[in-house]
Amino acid sequence: MNQTNTKQGDSYHRPVMVEEVLSYFQETAGLLVDATYGGGGHASALLQSNPELRVLGIDRDLDAMSRVPVGHGDPRLHLVTANFGDLEKILAREAPNGDLAGALFDLGVSSHQLDVAGRGFSFHSPGPLDMRMGPDATQSADDIVNRWSPGDIATILRDYGEERFAGRIAEAIVKARPIGDTVELASVIANAVPAPARRRKHPARRSFQAIRIAVNGELAALRRGLDAALDALRPGGRAVVISYHSLEDRIVKRRFASGATECTCPPDMPVCGCGTVAELRLLTRGGQRPSPAEIENNPRARSAVLRAVEKVTI
Ligand SMILES: C[S@@+](CC[C@H](N)C(=O)[O-])C[C@H]1O[C@@H](n2cnc3c(N)ncnc32)[C@H](O)[C@@H]1O
Repeated sequence: MNQTNTKQGDSYHRPVMVEEVLSYFQETAGLLVDATYGGGGHASALLQSNPELRVLGIDRDLDAMSRVPVGHGDPRLHLVTANFGDLEKILAREAPNGDLAGALFDLGVSSHQLDVAGRGFSFHSPGPLDMRMGPDATQSADDIVNRWSPGDIATILRDYGEERFAGRIAEAIVKARPIGDTVELASVIANAVPAPARRRKHPARRSFQAIRIAVNGELAALRRGLDAALDALRPGGRAVVISYHSLEDRIVKRRFASGATECTCPPDMPVCGCGTVAELRLLTRGGQRPSPAEIENNPRARSAVLRAVEKVTI
């Protein structure tokens, strides 16, 4: 079933921190890019709550785009299947006057993508070693798991999964080849991890995250997409990003902080020599978290961190 608004149709994806997102765009008029359209939950809530908004919805997943939820036929919603890493090009084509009023990134995968075993994102049910978010991804999980060298696998497990046992897991994966599906991969990983480390969260969680990030080039796309969105924002325009793990959040936090940096000259310099002028104003400090009630209702919200900025008039 399609997600048709924020109150019904939860089966595709229940949007996270909707009230908080709406609050940042209450006064926004003009074009907002929803770079991670997914089930359209945020987009439909934004369109319903603010008649002054038009939404350009982007998702690299054809499945998300083929569902055409609320807003279909709404002249204020325009959908594009693309990778937000190409946002600069997309905006040049879709919003050529460069007058962007808002940008929203709700990162990661949707519940739908996780729940459909055939996409290969989940370690709970057997699925192919795929994990591609969209057809633009140039490799699949199978390429990494069954073909990469142990050294390269260990590197992504460490860099993208912050996995302590990266080396052991990589060796175990290579030894168990060919690995046929996601559950087999999860079990190889679980057996490679020392017993005490298996107790808290699923021992394959970090490795699956790492492989997914590598397959989809997620961090590079985030850096490029965020730069393009912030460049295109008009003065007073706002960007909101919801991240679900520390690697994403670190990129967002640093990009926002660097954009909000004022003159860096020593305080005793009579005149500014560095020329640094803040282009952004931070609207959140330390990142905003979902309420305990939301986390109780929607456990997938528990790792969410929201950061928001406003483009400054220079
Ligand atoms: C957490 S879901 C977004 C859910 C959406 N906000 C809603 O309310 O239904 C993340 C979505 O972003 C998409 N996505 C992730 N990375 C992307 C990228 N680089 N370019 C375009 N879409 C991306 C995924 O395919 C997924 O559908």
